[in-house]
Amino acid sequence: MPGQRTLFGTDITIASEYSNEVAVTLHLGDRLQLLATIPDGEASLIVTSPPYNLGKEYEEDQALGEYIETQAATISEAVRICADDGSICWQVGNYVDNGEIVPLDTVLYPVFRSHGLKLRNRIVWHFGHGLHCANRFSGRYEVILWFTKTDGYYFDLDAVRVPQKYPGKKHYKGPKAGQLSGNPDGKNPSDVWIMPNVKANHREKTKHPCQFPVALIERLILALTEPGDLVVDPYIGVGTTAAAAVLTGRRAAGADTMPEYLEIARERVRQAAAGTLPHRPLDKPIYDPSLPNGGHR
Ligand SMILES: C[S@@+](CC[C@H](N)C(=O)[O-])C[C@H]1O[C@@H](n2cnc3c(N)ncnc32)[C@H](O)[C@@H]1O
Repeated sequence: MPGQRTLFGTDITIASEYSNEVAVTLHLGDRLQLLATIPDGEASLIVTSPPYNLGKEYEEDQALGEYIETQAATISEAVRICADDGSICWQVGNYVDNGEIVPLDTVLYPVFRSHGLKLRNRIVWHFGHGLHCANRFSGRYEVILWFTKTDGYYFDLDAVRVPQKYPGKKHYKGPKAGQLSGNPDGKNPSDVWIMPNVKANHREKTKHPCQFPVALIERLILALTEPGDLVVDPYIGVGTTAAAAVLTGRRAAGADTMPEYLEIARERVRQAAAGTLPHRPLDKPIYDPSLPNGGHR
C-alpha cells in the first residue's frame, strides 16, 4: 500500500528482549517477563486486549477471581512502566459463564482505581458481526477503558479529528452568525467507535482468533502519544499494536506465549515498516448498503 506514513525503513530492528535502542521488541514468553525488563515510567501508552478467559486455544481456564488476580498482576506492572503523562487502555468484552455475561471492564475497573488511575473514557467499540445468540441479544460491542496516570496527561485531539457531518454549516444568528459552527479541521470522534471487527473476509485477518483492527489502536496511539514514544502491549498476539506503532512512527514492545503468533507479528511489523501492511485505513467509511458502492470511495 504505497503512500503509508512510516518513519522506519525495511531494515527495522525487531528484538526479542527489550532495550530502548530498538524500534520493536517482540518477546516470546509471559507478559510479566517482558514488563519486568522495561524501566519505570518508560512507556507513553500501554494498550492491550488481554485473554477474556473464554477457553480460546491460548488460554487456561480460570475461575473469575483467579482471572482478575492474573490481570491485576499485569495492570500493576503496566502502571509502573507508564510515564506520568501516559495512558493505559484495556480493550475487553464479556466473560461468559453458563450463559451469564460478566462485562470484564466492570470487574477490572476497581483494580485500575486501586492504583489511583483516572478513567478518561469508556470507549464503546461497535461492530456489525459476531455470534448470533438464541437466549440473549447478540453482542455487538466491546469497550476500551482509557485511564491516565495523572491529570497532566498527553492528549492530541487534533491528530484524530474526523470529518464534520455538515462541514459548511454556519451559525445563523447571534454574534457568530455567518461563521462556521464546527471546527473546519473536523470533529471529536466521540466515545463510540464504529469499526468492523477482524472476521474471515477482513483484509487484516490472520490465523489469530481475536485480533483487534489496526485502526482501533492507531487512533489511540495518535491521540495519546508522540512520534518516537514507546507503546507496550503485554498480550500482543499477531502484533497489531506493534504494526500500528510502526505505521505512526512510535516504538513498540509486546509479549505473547504463542510462537506462531509472534512469527506473524514479526512479518506484520516488517510490512508496516515497508509500507505494505494490508490494513483498513482509519478514515475508511463503514459499508452502507443504501449508498452507491456501499459508500466506499
Ligand atoms: C485477545 S489476544 C490479543 C490479540 C492482539 N490484540 C492482536 O491483535 O493480535 C490475547 C493474547 O494473549 C496471549 N497470551 C495469553 N497468555 C499470555 C501471557 N501469560 N503472556 C503473554 N501473552 C499471553 C495469547 O496468546 C493471545 O495472543
